[in-house]
Amino acid sequence: MILSKPILLSAVQPSGNLTIGNYIGTMRHWSKMQNNYECLYCIADLHALTIQKNKIHLNKSILDTISFYLSCGVDPQKSIIFIQSHVYQHSQLNWILNCFSQFSELLRMTQFKIKSNCSKKINAALFNYPILMAADILLYQTNFVPVGQDQKQHVELTRNIAHRFNSLYGHVFTLPKPLITQHGSKIMSLLEPNKKMSKSDINKKNVIFLLDDIKTVISKIQNAYTDSETPSKIYYDIEKKPGISNLLEILSAITNKDIDILLKELEGMLYSEFKNIVADHLSKFLYKLQKSYNDYRNDEVYLKKIAYEGAMKSQLKSDKTLTKVYDKLGLIPLF
Ligand code: TYM
Repeated sequence: MILSKPILLSAVQPSGNLTIGNYIGTMRHWSKMQNNYECLYCIADLHALTIQKNKIHLNKSILDTISFYLSCGVDPQKSIIFIQSHVYQHSQLNWILNCFSQFSELLRMTQFKIKSNCSKKINAALFNYPILMAADILLYQTNFVPVGQDQKQHVELTRNIAHRFNSLYGHVFTLPKPLITQHGSKIMSLLEPNKKMSKSDINKKNVIFLLDDIKTVISKIQNAYTDSETPSKIYYDIEKKPGISNLLEILSAITNKDIDILLKELEGMLYSEFKNIVADHLSKFLYKLQKSYNDYRNDEVYLKKIAYEGAMKSQLKSDKTLTKVYDKLGLIPLF
C-alpha cells in the first residue's frame, strides 16, 4: 500500500518586491517541506489586484515571484508551482464560499482593519480577500498551510467556512491547519520594531527587500533601531528589547542556529559588533539568493513553461473538489 503524503499549500501575493519577512516567515521552509508533503506553491496574482493596478508592474512581479520560488529551492519536479489566475476553479469556488461566509466574521479580520485604515478608497475585494484565500486552500484538500503570523487568522477563517459547509453537505473539505514557527513568523520593521515588516511600507529603511543591493542591506541593518539600555546587553525579550530581538530572529533564520546558541556566541559584544555580524550574514545570504534569482529571471521561457505545467496539474486537482461542490449544491456540471 502506498501512503499518500499530507497536502501543503502556500502562496505569496506578487504585489511588489518581496521582503526578508516573506522569506523568513514562509519561503525558507518550502524546499525542506517538499520531502514530507505534497506541495503546491501558488502565486496569488488575483489577490495582488486588490492593490496592484499597474499592468507592467504586476506582470513583472508575477515572473519575479516564480523566480524567487525557484531560487529558494522549490523544485518543479517535486512540487507544483502555479499562478492563481491560471486556475479558474479558484474564482469559481471563491464565489461559492462567499455564500457561506459571514459579513461579521470578515469585519473582524485584522489584516482588513489595518489595510482599510491606510486608505479612504477601500474596494470590496479587500474585504472579501480572505474568502479567495479560503478557496485557494480548500480546493486542494490542503492539510497544512505554512504562513507568517499575520495570515493565521485567515487560515482559521478558512477552517470555519469549511466546517460550516461540511456541516450542511457532509464531508467535502479537509480542515487545514496553519504551520507557524515559534521564531521568524513575524519579522518586524527595522526602525519601528513594534510594527510588522511589510513590502508596502512607505519608509523603505524599515524593510530589507530580497533585491536590495548589498550596500543598502548593510546600511539598513547598521541603522536598525536597538535601545538605550546601559550597559548594553544582547538578549532576547520582545517586550523590552524589540529591536535586538528582531535582529536575533533574522540572524537565527539566516544562519539556521537557535537563538540560545547565538546568544552564547554574542555574549559581551557591543550592539555595533552584533549588527556587523547580522549585516555580514544577511548580505552573504542575499548575494547568493540574488545570483540564483537572476539566473532564473533571465529565462522567461522556462518560467512560463513551469507556470503552464503547474496550471495543468492544479486544474486537474482542483476540479475534483469543485465538481464535488457543484454536485452537493445542486449545480449542473457541464457534460
Ligand atoms: P503576503 O504576500 O502578504 O505574504 C506572504 C507570506 O509571507 C508572510 N509574511 C511574513 N512573515 C514573517 N514576517 C513578516 N514580516 C512577514 N510579512 C509577510 C505572510 O504571513 C505570508 O505567509 N494572503 C497571503 C497570500 C495568500 C495565501 C493563500 C497564503 C493567498 N492565498 C493561501 C497561504 C495560503 C498574503 O497576502 O501573503
